[in-house]
Amino acid sequence: MRLVIMGPPGAGKGTQAVVLAEALGIPHISTGDIFRANVTQGTPLGLRAKSFMDAGEYVPDDVTNEMVRDRLSQADCGHGFLLDGYPRTVDQVAELDSMVGAVGSKLSKVVELTVDVDEVVSRLVRRSSEQGRSDDGEDVIRRRLEVYFDATAPLTAVYDDRGLLIKVSGMGAVADVSHRVLEALGVDA
Ligand code: AP5
Repeated sequence: MRLVIMGPPGAGKGTQAVVLAEALGIPHISTGDIFRANVTQGTPLGLRAKSFMDAGEYVPDDVTNEMVRDRLSQADCGHGFLLDGYPRTVDQVAELDSMVGAVGSKLSKVVELTVDVDEVVSRLVRRSSEQGRSDDGEDVIRRRLEVYFDATAPLTAVYDDRGLLIKVSGMGAVADVSHRVLEALGVDA
């Protein structure tokens, strides 16, 4: 399976991606996690990405696309992958098509988690107090949501037109959401 999970900040993409990747035996590739690991390690990529992330803006497409292209070329992605947080722009959609097409393949499904804005804000504010993630301050949360609804939410229509989009409610308990996602994909839990 070559899957993408989409949804606004705080929708539960990362949380559900862990469950899904485990159930399907495919690697979970989170662009946000890769950027954060690079920030922590102080790599040139991390130094470049940090100012964008802390402002709630997207890291430029050329940087992000190259990072994903490199990750998808690794051997563990040969039988599938779950992309979490990529693609987020028109350019990234086209790049992903090219990466997947280059190995004679195509995406299997795109899962969109839908969640009320009040709920995602409250999840991220809670995470801020528990973990102190640098982009979980209230102003930055607001900006991340604006950027998502402006640049990324319209992209789900592209995948809907291709017959790939599955919308799943991300509201409620984590286990209930997992059950809905697995059921929508026809995966035995
Ligand atoms: P990224 O890390 O992907 O951040 P995000 O999209 O804002 O998503 P979050 O991680 O905040 O939320 P999530 O939907 O994964 O939910 P989660 O499971 O964590 O990206 C960070 C930044 O990196 C971007 O802003 C950008 O700068 C850059 N970046 C990344 N990808 C990029 C790209 N493709 N192009 C350009 N730039 C890119 O859950 C959130 C919280 O809610 C957690 O505390 C969790 O425990 C809790 N929670 C989850 N599910 C539930 C539930 N059902 N009920 C209650 N709480 C829940």
